[in-house]
Amino acid sequence: MSETTSIRPPRNVADPVLTIEDFSVDYLGTHTTHAVKNVSLTLGRGEVLGLAGESGCGKSTLAYGVTRLLKPPALVTSGSATFHSREGYSVDLATLQGPDLRAFRWDKISMVFQGAMNSLNPVISVQDQLTDIFTAHRPEMKKAERVHAAGDLLERVGVDRNRLRSYPHELSGGMRQRVMIAMAMALDPQVMIMDEPTTALDVVVQREILDEITRLRSELGFAVIFITHDLPLLLEISDRIAVMRAGEIVELGGAYDLYTNPEHPYTKRLLASFPSLTGERGDFIRTGVRDDRLEVDPGDLTDAPSIHSQTAEGLQEELEFDAPGTGVPETDSAAADESEGAGA
Ligand SMILES: Nc1ncnc2c1ncn2[C@@H]1O[C@H](COP(=O)(O)OP(=O)(O)OP(=O)(O)O)[C@@H](O)[C@H]1O
Ligand SMILES: [Mg+2]
Repeated sequence: MSETTSIRPPRNVADPVLTIEDFSVDYLGTHTTHAVKNVSLTLGRGEVLGLAGESGCGKSTLAYGVTRLLKPPALVTSGSATFHSREGYSVDLATLQGPDLRAFRWDKISMVFQGAMNSLNPVISVQDQLTDIFTAHRPEMKKAERVHAAGDLLERVGVDRNRLRSYPHELSGGMRQRVMIAMAMALDPQVMIMDEPTTALDVVVQREILDEITRLRSELGFAVIFITHDLPLLLEISDRIAVMRAGEIVELGGAYDLYTNPEHPYTKRLLASFPSLTGERGDFIRTGVRDDRLEVDPGDLTDAPSIHSQTAEGLQEELEFDAPGTGVPETDSAAADESEGAGA
């Protein structure tokens, strides 16, 4: 790797859209699990922040905790999450209740849940599932406007609008996942939290969807917390990456820095566990896909990371969008009900 390779400095951290401070979550029980321990993170406006770490390290718990989707036995034991709207006000998420929380979720921060594509309601058409979000959150919209907006949303994620009439079982896994992403984007949120949004998809579809997310991010300016244990994937799409282990963030840095100069032994191990990133066969991934996000000089692309494979973990059987171990999510959001209620 050339020492002259320039990387883009962390994007907009000076202009945060979400500040997580000292956030801790326990799962209470005979053996209490400290699932998230004193996590502090700042998500810059328009930034893609990757959250990496092995299974069970607390990634989903952190995401659900921040968005107030956890239920007992989960307990937030410390910290805060503050949303800074582009309109100039800030909200401590812990203070939101009932209708305010309902209005907030999906509208300002939306989520694509782990295993989401199996969570579309099988007996409700794609059109109705999309328009229900507008019915709940944009009551002023007329029916024709809702349908039109739903069609636009589908097209935005690369699905033909004539699929509005389809039912989920008539769509491929990739299409269903795109519909879920469309739903999460429906209300033009400022933050999207995506928990393993492409893990279950084959690598070609995964690539298409990631390109789509990246394009939409540039177009619409939302910030993304992208959760996965697939570090090579994160290296490619993220501005910065946080590496989580046993409930703690052990390293946080620019994606390129983290790749070229990991500091924490665990990050090094994680990188080393992907042989194509470090071994002789590294050439396999050094095929020169230009990665503007890293702003690497084309001449320095020989070491640029790239997605190399679909991750091994299969789709989790989270048919009901349940928060980790919490059963049915808190659904005081009507839209959440309609889209999440799904598998139910
Ligand atoms: N309801 C629960 N009761 C007790 N422990 C739980 C519960 N739900 C999750 N945990 C524990 O909390 C820890 C964090 O789980 P979490 O689902 O957040 O991990 P994750 O990083 O998202 O993993 P994965 O990559 O497999 O999705 C794990 O040790 C898990 O066993
Ligand atoms: Mg998870």
